[in-house]
Parts: sequence; structure tokens; C-alpha cells
Amino acid sequence: MAHAVVILAAGLGTRMKSKLPKVLHPLLGKPLVGYCIDAAFQSGAERVVVVVGHGAEQVRQAFASHPRLVFVEQKEQLGTAHALAQAEAVLADFPGPIVVTQGDTPLTRPETLKGLVEVLRREQAGMALLTMRLPDPTGYGRIVRDEKGEILRNVEQKDARPEELAIQEINPGVYCFDASLWAMLRRVDNQNAAGEYYLPDLIQIYRAAGQKVASLEAKDPEELLGVNSRAQLAQVEAVLLGRLRAHWMAQGVRMVLPETVYLEPSVELAPDVVLWPGVVLRGQTRLGEGVEVGAYAVLTDTTVEPYAKVKSHSVCEGAYIEQGADAGPFARLRPGAYLEQEAHVGNFVEVKNARLGRRAKAGHLAYLGDAEVGEESNIGAGVITANYDGVRKHKTTIGKRAFVGSNSVLIAPVTLGDGAFVAGGSAINQDVPAEALAIARERQRNIEGYRRRREQETSGAG
Ligand code: UD1
Ligand code: CA
Repeated sequence: MAHAVVILAAGLGTRMKSKLPKVLHPLLGKPLVGYCIDAAFQSGAERVVVVVGHGAEQVRQAFASHPRLVFVEQKEQLGTAHALAQAEAVLADFPGPIVVTQGDTPLTRPETLKGLVEVLRREQAGMALLTMRLPDPTGYGRIVRDEKGEILRNVEQKDARPEELAIQEINPGVYCFDASLWAMLRRVDNQNAAGEYYLPDLIQIYRAAGQKVASLEAKDPEELLGVNSRAQLAQVEAVLLGRLRAHWMAQGVRMVLPETVYLEPSVELAPDVVLWPGVVLRGQTRLGEGVEVGAYAVLTDTTVEPYAKVKSHSVCEGAYIEQGADAGPFARLRPGAYLEQEAHVGNFVEVKNARLGRRAKAGHLAYLGDAEVGEESNIGAGVITANYDGVRKHKTTIGKRAFVGSNSVLIAPVTLGDGAFVAGGSAINQDVPAEALAIARERQRNIEGYRRRREQETSGAG
């Protein structure tokens, strides 16, 4: 019989000083409680229940598309035991072990949850809990044992006597129970310093019922870091980033100053990728073998094929860059930007919903929106596709080997044939046939002797 997992996530999170419920604060782009949910499913849980309260609707909505996830609401936050009791409504008939974790502890590994289930089974205990030894136990519940080493109870910091405060073994807040849990929970009272229903009081209650309480000592304190403040959120984020960087470096990625590289768990990297300092990789970003990303480039949901380059300070979102193409420095690729093989986009070029064919180039200061640029075409500096008439967007189509002179505006909808030329400074609002030259600007006039005449006029006036 597989186990169920209940995640307690109804608390307010006052110390975050935020309008956002604590468990929705993003950790590498994913809400805090999302990590607990993933760990629960990865531990092999048959059912996962989240107890929500503060910001309940927001939390539900954040995971609305998650199959197999069940929410129950704790309307008033009367303590962790009261929170857990809300899950009885959906788990009353669940026969297997029930694991309980806290939604603000995102680094707990699935193996740890499984380990606790195994301890419960092996020792035929009614309850099992994780414990941990900390040099500084401040803030946590302390584990009180008898002289034989049996766990007697947990005492909260607020309720502890001085000799209990000195205990270094603490309660990290991860538990496992047999199916008698719901009956036991009814015996928890709120006679304590906080006036709350304390979940760890189940230790005495199980013992009083003649059942065994087992424990498993966690060895990696990082796993149990809780998030109660912004500083702890940053600390947990640093741990996760450290794990991700180490993982990708082991897979053959080169990071220059790795501690400056930000990347999310959803990102995928191939061997020989090179990341210069300050690179930010977010969402569904995928970098192929040998891709180089320059300093301070930001890539979101972007695919870069092998041996392509994104140079420093470029910002790419929802872009696709084929093999051997390059963008930047200071390129801006917006959703739908597509660079075919060996295409080149240089500094201060913005590309949106536009495709550049093989070896096409837009070297400097251009805007290509809703456009198609044929292979080997050249887009001069300052070229703008005027794609918006104030109401609708229109398309610009440029054939192969076309040449668009600097500072031209292509007023869409408009089509330039293969091999067409546009003279610099033109405003093009009619199609240009293949191989033709379009000049759409005032013809230049030179006025001979202008300076001499002007000087005569000004001296006459004085
Ligand atoms: C709790 C434990 C403490 C342990 C510590 C580990 C209790 C009484 N104390 O203290 O022994 O060392 O965790 O981190 O359990 N929650 C609800 N509803 C409530 C109260 C809390 O859902 O009414 C949720 C919170 O959202 C949070 C979790 O339960 O995710 C823990 O609550 P919190 O108030 O942070 O407990 P701690 O004081 O950390
Ligand atoms: Ca906590």
C-alpha cells in the first residue's frame, strides 16, 4: 500500500511582509509549495493533499492544472494539528501510511519521505518523525528523550524550560502516521503558551495509546531549511542554485564565475555550453552543445541550437536560434523571433514574430516585427518595419538576397521580391518586384554658391 502526503500550507507567513501568500513566493521561478508537491509525488505518494488557508483561492489557482492534487481549507489557523485534521475529510478511509510535511520547507528530498515510511513499517510504529541535530536549535521544537533514548515528547521553544532549550535535537516538521491518525488527532488540546493545537503533541498521544513512536535522524541540515523570511528564501534559493550549477558543470557545462549564474530547474544545457558571468536562464530555455552565452544575457523560454552564440547583454524571450547563428551584443529577441542557420542579428536590433533566413543579416539598430526575411538578405542600420497602423498588425515579406538600405521604413503590408534593392532612407509602401531598385525619397538638390550668398545677405542686414 502506497502512502499519502499532506502538506500544511495554511499559515500567513507574517515575516515575509508581503501580499503574496508565503507558499506562493517564487523560488527559481516556481512557487515554494510547488517543490513540496513535486517531492511528495516523486516519493511515490498515491494521494497528495494540500491544506490551504491564507490566500487559499490564489494557491488553488496556482496549481489548478495539476492533476491528482487535492486541496482542503483550514478556515481559521488554530495550529498545525488543527491544520492536519482538515485532511480527514479526504483521507478518512485511506488505509496506508500518511506522511505530513510543511509547505514552507522546499528542500526536503523524496528519498527522505520514503525513508520515514520505511521506518514506520520496519519498526511497526504508529508514528515516525524526522529529527535533526543543530548547533543552534533556536526557534525549533526540541526533542525530549528518556535515558534509554526513547522519544518522550516535543517541546516548543515558547513552552520550553531552560534545560530543554539547551537540547540540540530538533523537530524539523516531517512526520509519518498509521491510519489511526484521525482518532489520535481528536485528543490534541491547545493548553500551551501559544494556545494552538500542536501537531507534535501526537508523540505523547500515540505513546499513551501504547503505540511505538520511531524516529529517523536527518543528516543533511540543508534539506530542512524552512522559509519564514525573505533572508531564508534567498538562502534556500542559493542552495538550489548551487545544486543546479554543480549538476550542469558535472554534465560538461563551463561557467565562468558560477556563483553569478542564475538558472531555473526547467532549463536544459548540453556539454560544452559556455556561460559567462551574470547570465540568466529562465523557463523552458534549451542550449545545445557548444553554445556560448555572453555576460549579462537574459534568456527566457529560448532554444539555441549547437554552436550558436548569444552575445553579452542580449535579452531573448520565446526565441529560436538555429545552429551557427548569432545575436548581440545588445540584441532583443522577442516571442516568435526565429534565426535560421548562420543568420546574424547585431546590436540594438529588435526582432518580434519574425524569421530571418539562412545567412540573413541585420547588423545594427533595426526593428523587424511580423516579418519574414529571405536567406542572405541584408537589412541596413535603422531599418524599421512599420507593422502597426494603430489598429492592426501587418506583415512584411522580404525575399532572398534582398538589400534594404539604411534608415528605410517598410510600411506593412508590403513585399520585397528576391534580389530587390531599397535605396537608403526610403519610405516603402508599395511592393518592390524581384531584382528592382526602389527609391522612395525626395531627390537631392545641390544649390551652388549657397554659402557666399548667405554670408552677403547676413552682412547686408547688419
Ligand atoms: C513547527 C513545529 C516545530 C518545528 C517547526 C519546524 C508545531 C507546533 N511546531 O513550528 O516543532 O520545529 O515547525 O519547521 O507544529 N500551518 C497551518 N495551519 C496552522 C498553523 C500552521 O497550515 O494553523 C502550517 C504553516 O503554513 C507552515 C507549517 O504549518 O507551513 C508550520 O507552521 P509554522 O507556524 O511555521 O510552525 P513553526 O513555528 O515553524
Ligand atoms: Ca515554519
